[in-house]
Amino acid sequence: MTSTLDNTDAKTSAETDLIAGFPFPFLEDRYRYSTNVEPAEQPVTTPAGRWGTAVVDIDSEYRAELAQRAVILAADPTRHAVLPHMVPAAWDAMFTLMRELDAAYPEQMQLRSTGPDEWVWRNGILGIEQHFRYGDAATLPDEPLRYITSQVQEDIALLDHRNDQLFVDAGVVTFAADWSFGFDVGMSFLEIHGPVPRVRKEGVITRAHEFLKRLQPHQPYRRTNWTLTIDRRLDVSTEIYPEWGPDRESIQLVDDAEFGRRVHLRVEVQHLIRLPDSGAVMFLIRTYMLPLEQVATVDPWRRRAAEVLAELPADMADYKGIIKYRDRAAQWLRDAAPTPPAPTTP
Ligand code: HEM
Repeated sequence: MTSTLDNTDAKTSAETDLIAGFPFPFLEDRYRYSTNVEPAEQPVTTPAGRWGTAVVDIDSEYRAELAQRAVILAADPTRHAVLPHMVPAAWDAMFTLMRELDAAYPEQMQLRSTGPDEWVWRNGILGIEQHFRYGDAATLPDEPLRYITSQVQEDIALLDHRNDQLFVDAGVVTFAADWSFGFDVGMSFLEIHGPVPRVRKEGVITRAHEFLKRLQPHQPYRRTNWTLTIDRRLDVSTEIYPEWGPDRESIQLVDDAEFGRRVHLRVEVQHLIRLPDSGAVMFLIRTYMLPLEQVATVDPWRRRAAEVLAELPADMADYKGIIKYRDRAAQWLRDAAPTPPAPTTP
């Protein structure tokens, strides 16, 4: 039997887990683009908890996010693509992620060999037991990349490495932050970053490209990126702009309490992994969101996020789509400072 109290407790512990695992992205009071890559799997301790222990991360939103992904994929097939030459990379990605899940969550996730190229995959959270032969599509219920993205919260893009360039030739991306996977598929890494202000001139993207081309198997790297999103809305892709774009206007009219509840700091932890068999580069995008009212409960986060938002140059704020409300977000965070206790009279 589920009582109201049980539900409240479940919600409270879920919220706690989302704050404790939140990858707060700002290392300074000022944010600029950089080739901010670092070796993965080194946990980061924050004032609220810890993140970054594994390449794949499962939290209390697991089932809810997977359910959303399934709905999006059913409604829009362009969120999933595997160009014909990427089939080996899709198997490589699936297998690599099963290994990562097994290593990070050994109680719930197991990948075991049952014979030459024969495996059994168990996902105890979703109650899955799947026998398969590596490379044999008939032994899986779905295309391998789609199959594994129905079991991880991460979006996935796979980059082919040819002619000294990287091309986004496969992926399942349902939670894009203001871009379109269906539009970008087949484009080169350099073309995709064409719209980003500053980065060409500053060499950020060419350095990232050189770095990615040298990436070695079994040496995963990661980086973070961030923006603001109205409401806990994972899918803010270009395809459905009419559904979420107008919120950027209407949020300016709401009262302060609603503003703090609805404006979320959105952070992507992105992993970069050279797949061992196919040589493709796997790009994982794991999206985390925390409303400003919860960011403000961690005072160092509140102060720093306010500084970053207030100082962010207009061209960057404009590109991120936050220019119309970032000043208010900065002010909201400043105003949320804890009130010092009143002095006690002797
Ligand atoms: C956007 C850097 C890897 C796809 C961006 C932005 C930066 C950046 C600075 C602008 C973000 C913002 O203002 O919110 C990098 C670096 C990388 C990297 C340094 C690697 C070290 C990748 C990879 C992909 C990718 C592997 C493959 C899919 C995108 C897309 C956008 C983006 C689709 C949005 C572009 C648009 O507005 O259309 N990236 N990125 N990035 N990045 Fe990357």
